[in-house]
Amino acid sequence: MAMYRIRHCERLSGEVTIHAAKNAVLPLMCAGLLTRDPVVIERVPNLTDVHTLTDILADCGAVIRQEDQATLSLCSEEPHSPSSGDLLSRMRASVLVMGPLLARTGYARVSLPGGCAIGQRPIDLHIKGMQAMGAEVQLTPGSVTLQGTLHGGNVYLDFPSVGATENILLAASIARGTTRIENAAKEPEIIDLCAFLNAMGARISGGGTGTIVIDGQRELHGCTYRPIPDRIEAGTLLCASAMTEGSVLLRGIRPDHMRAVLFKLAETGVTLRESPAGLRLTGRGSQPIQVRTLAYPGFPTDMQAPMMALALKLRGTSVFLETVFENRFMHAREMARLGANIRIEDRIALVNGGRVLAGTSVISTDLRGGAAMMLSGLAAEGETILDDPAGHIARGYEDLPGMLGALGADVTVEMNNG
Ligand code: UD1
Repeated sequence: MAMYRIRHCERLSGEVTIHAAKNAVLPLMCAGLLTRDPVVIERVPNLTDVHTLTDILADCGAVIRQEDQATLSLCSEEPHSPSSGDLLSRMRASVLVMGPLLARTGYARVSLPGGCAIGQRPIDLHIKGMQAMGAEVQLTPGSVTLQGTLHGGNVYLDFPSVGATENILLAASIARGTTRIENAAKEPEIIDLCAFLNAMGARISGGGTGTIVIDGQRELHGCTYRPIPDRIEAGTLLCASAMTEGSVLLRGIRPDHMRAVLFKLAETGVTLRESPAGLRLTGRGSQPIQVRTLAYPGFPTDMQAPMMALALKLRGTSVFLETVFENRFMHAREMARLGANIRIEDRIALVNGGRVLAGTSVISTDLRGGAAMMLSGLAAEGETILDDPAGHIARGYEDLPGMLGALGADVTVEMNNG
């Protein structure tokens, strides 16, 4: 659990370097289960989700070493299904041990995953993929057991699910024969996983397109890899900057991974400049926006909450349509406690921005919602106390208060028992 004290902020300026992407690193760590050789991942961010997954992988028999501050090596000589359901229930990405365990050992038993309560988040598409590769599936309350020797298969995903695409990629990379994923997710983190698996000796083509073809290999080998930067951390800091009279330089980012967010920021009236040094955002956003969350390359659902924090400062009505998760406006209620005027109709939120907000006590409802509340606190007069009883923010941001602080904000961590 954590508690943050956030003081009103009129101007952010300076520069920060973006960490590696949580959503890239977690599947890469699970890919370590596919080989006996050590795999080495560099620039691993210091996040609770990374620590939890480290514990889960250790529970699956992997030996994980912290080579230096940010380098992890994983070695999985004899992997097996995890014994602790409790750890898996803490994070959604834990379901990504399923594909590798099944493909490598012919058997996987995993508890149904947890994570943020932003929607139902079923795993039917993951299971459909495993069945298409020949797995027998037994669903019991709270867990799923899969067995069989996997072979190539054709899978059509009804929705381009990031996690299902990753699980199928992981399993298919060592299944016998060729697997085709149609309507695959196209997120940059998928391309990164394909590149990582190919560096391990897999033969995958089409990563980043709707059709991915995987030529299963008998064995994969170790590799050393540096994951892509975190486009959501970068976007969150850009939203923070645009809420103030900011001039912020983000180093180490991939602007090509965040075009939808950059277009929306530009629509608010800020100036964005790319240079070899990084991406600079200058000025305060003023024009309201319309945001529809979609699978990549559409506007990312993970950026909806931070962008809504920015909308609190945009004079006029901004419209948010959330199409990916059905319960992802929980932060709006907390924003209203600061004085925000937000109307929610099913999956649409209408934000009447430009009102004066006043600091008070608010709660971090989920990972991105929590970050959005930290940003909202910067916009509110006086002081905001942000209570994060579940430690959501530290699950996905490495030292967000410190990064905002480096840009001139005053955010202190009052308590951290994470
Ligand atoms: C990943 C990201 C998360 C992001 C999300 C969407 C990681 C660790 N997490 O989550 O930050 O918000 O992508 O970009 O990378 N669905 C099904 N059946 C399934 C799987 C998914 O119906 O078997 C639905 C979900 O309920 C949701 C939608 O598909 O409505 C998108 O989910 P998915 O892309 O799978 O998200 P995650 O992989 O869980």
